[in-house]
Amino acid sequence: WATMADDVNAIMRLKAERNAVILAHNYMRPEIFHGISDIVGDSLALAREATTVEADVIVLAGVHFMAETAKLLNPSKTVLIPDLRSGCSLAESITPEQVRELRRQHPGVPVVTYVNTSAAVKAESDICITSGNAVHIIESLGVPEVIFIPDQFLAANVARQTGVKVITHPGACEVHERFTPLDIRQVRADYPDGVTVLAHPECPPEVVDEADFAGSTAQMINFVAQQRPQRVALITECSMSDNVAQQYPDVEFVRPCNLCPHMKRNTLAKIRHSLETMTHEVTIDPEVADRARASVERMLAVGA
Ligand code: 13P
Ligand code: SF4
Repeated sequence: WATMADDVNAIMRLKAERNAVILAHNYMRPEIFHGISDIVGDSLALAREATTVEADVIVLAGVHFMAETAKLLNPSKTVLIPDLRSGCSLAESITPEQVRELRRQHPGVPVVTYVNTSAAVKAESDICITSGNAVHIIESLGVPEVIFIPDQFLAANVARQTGVKVITHPGACEVHERFTPLDIRQVRADYPDGVTVLAHPECPPEVVDEADFAGSTAQMINFVAQQRPQRVALITECSMSDNVAQQYPDVEFVRPCNLCPHMKRNTLAKIRHSLETMTHEVTIDPEVADRARASVERMLAVGA
């Protein structure tokens, strides 16, 4: 079988032959994140950067909703996902019909939809958000109440920060919902001389309460880059610590983490295969795509 170096060399050659770029989420394994990616980031950065791609082909090393978002913003380009089964518990938690039902129950209340959803759900929405801009976008709407779907925990965390009332949906990230306040208390007990705890806002509010800071994956990386804590715990997916630790060897990372099985479907071998065979191509019904794109473009228009 091919070694990691064989795969990396083949991917580099194929990228040039196909005029392809690799966009990778912060949860990719280090050999993908550091080894072969052209653009890395959180969901917001990947959406923003997708609008600037000049290559003919985008390989999205991440999960399906991220590839759909890249396709929405690049309808004429080929967008590939290395493994079609890379789903997301949040995206799978809600259907377009459920969004229409929420609208019927709450007429006139804007529908704010987390980017971790299918294009069909985005198509039923007024505006998209990510964990990196949710507070800013909700505040920009200037309304007392929103339908905020499908992450009940992100919704609760944002409601507390903004004072805007949220009607939500019982979705959750299968990685972040598993953290408990006890996990964080245990980390602090293990390091009585101090540890800075950063949590993702997809964690339940009682977990965020125990942390020193909550933010998207990019906001966690910025925190480490700017504050250079001596010791840090990233309460999120496991590859984050592996990737950031390589960039900041002066910072000690303690690693209470949970793996995302969907993100972990991405491997060097599958990315190589994806570029060799030009599979799996992401397609979106044009009528759905037009409406979904509008909700993503509204988000990008609000700005940082
Ligand atoms: P962000 O990288 O936008 O914080 O999202 C985290 C996540 O769970 C993506 O699936
Ligand atoms: Fe979905 Fe959570 Fe995995 Fe992100 S980490 S893809 S939100 S299940």
